[in-house]
Parts: sequence; C-alpha cells; structure tokens
Amino acid sequence: MSGVVWVDGALRAANEPVILAGNHGVTVGDGVFETLAVRRGAPFALTRHLVRLQYSMDRMGMRPIDMAEVRAGVAAVMQANPADVARVRITVISGSGPMSSVRGTGLPNIIVWGGPASAPRQCRAVRSPWRRNERSAIAGVKSTSYAENVVMAKFAADKGADEALVSNTFGYLCEGTGSNVMIERRGEILTPPLSSGCLAGITRGLALEWGARAGVPVRVAAPGELEMFVLDEVMQGVAHASVTSSTRGIQPIVNLDGADVAPGPLLKKLSDVYEMNADADPDPAPPRLRSAV
Ligand SMILES: Cc1ncc(COP(=O)(O)O)c(C=O)c1O
Repeated sequence: MSGVVWVDGALRAANEPVILAGNHGVTVGDGVFETLAVRRGAPFALTRHLVRLQYSMDRMGMRPIDMAEVRAGVAAVMQANPADVARVRITVISGSGPMSSVRGTGLPNIIVWGGPASAPRQCRAVRSPWRRNERSAIAGVKSTSYAENVVMAKFAADKGADEALVSNTFGYLCEGTGSNVMIERRGEILTPPLSSGCLAGITRGLALEWGARAGVPVRVAAPGELEMFVLDEVMQGVAHASVTSSTRGIQPIVNLDGADVAPGPLLKKLSDVYEMNADADPDPAPPRLRSAV
C-alpha cells in the first residue's frame, strides 16, 4: 500500500504490520470510517466528518475515543506528505475481540491514511439488482461492514460502470455504493430522504444548504416521492441525475445501464455553487455547532 499511515498516535511505514489478526474490526468489520477530500492542501469539512464519525460510533455502541486524537492523526498525515495527500481516510475499529460477533474488551484503534485521489470525473452508473435495507441495525451508519457495497461495486465494474444505484426495500431510490444521488426533474432537484436508508452524506448536506442559499431549487424528497422508476425518466431524457460524495463532488451521471444520458443543467449549476462555496469555506460548521463558532 502506498500513502502515509498514522496509527494510534504515531506515523508508521505504509508496509508496516500494525493491526493484530484478532482485531474485531478485521474479523467481523466492527468499525466505522470517514473519507475526506483534500482541497487546497487541507482536509475538507473535517469537523462535519468528525461529527458523523461520532454519530456512527454511537450507533455502533463503540467505546468512546478522543476526537482530538483523530484530529492530531489527520494533521500528522497532512504534514508528512502534503503534496501527495489528495484524500484522507479515517478508520476506527473496535480493537481485540473474540472470534464471534460479541464484542470484546479491546480498546479502539484509530487509523488515518492519506494518499492519492482515485475518483472518476464523471459517473457511469448501473442499477443494482439488490436493495438497501432501510431498517438494518446499521442503516445510515458509515460502518466498515461494507461488503454489500463491495459486491454492488463489483457488479458495476463488471459492466464497465463505476457506481451502482440501489433502491430500498420499498423500491424507493436510495443511494449509490459510495455516493448519494440527486435527481433533476420538472425544474427542481430532489434527493432521497434519510428515511430511505441512505447515508447522511456530507456533500449532500452541503449541497442542500449552499444550493438553497444560492437560490437553486433543491430539496429533500418526501418519503416515497422518488421511486426507483425515476431512473427510467433519466433514460428517456426527461430527468437527469448526479451522484454526490466527498471524493466526487457533485458529479453528473453520463451513462446509465450502458446508455448515454444527458447531464442536468440545474445540477451543473448546483455543482458550481458547491465548488465555489467549498473553496471559500474549507471547514463549514455543522448545523448544530454554527451558533457556537
Ligand atoms: C454509502 C454511501 N453513501 C453516500 C456517500 C457520500 O457521502 P459523503 O458525501 O459524506 O462522502 C458515501 C461516501 O462514501 C457512501 O459510502
């Protein structure tokens, strides 16, 4: 593996073994993570990512960690190789535990990695034949138990695509394997609600806030308003779609299930608004912290 690695308080060589085989994060995926873009030499929206990391840990019932330590790890990685770090990944796993689903008494391990970015510039998507369970114990949690996404991403890659879009168990549009989704139709932009089972994407949240502030008609769809069938409208050219994520930004879907589809003009405008605001504010305050900063 290339890149810069920091684990539990110290920088490590990228090829140095640092996690024991009995770590519950390794044996059953008992952990959480965050992926951040690096913009203009700084990790973008770090505070929002740490708030979500805490949320994921709380939902998983993990032992608390000191978020100042995570910040120190991110700073150490950024300082170690500022030119080559275009993406930062924070992983927290629960520590040593038994070879079963029951968690042990280990202390969590904090791993920060920095390295090159790898996201494509445009999105070629396919519809996933599987569904997201919006009632799962970890729905909306950014857990390292991402095997479902691995399978769906492989399905997409096997079809020459780079993202798979998934519905929830009701057949409502949910998200991608590593992105949220936005639909432009009838003069406005809609994104599935969190009740669909999607992750509360940092990019999605900022796009909603900054878009509304700039007068772009963008809103969260009502539950059930966006059925998976809306993608048929994208195929027919009467609607358009983009995916959003920390590494992709707001990116047009230019190919769906092997057919070229047109990017949406309003979605392009939203992307411009997002980029402009992200350049101006490298660490936008999370909604609840805004009055405190
Ligand atoms: C399943 C899933 N949905 C959505 C997103 C987008 O979230 P963010 O904008 O915070 O990167 C991700 C990011 O990796 C993800 O894994």
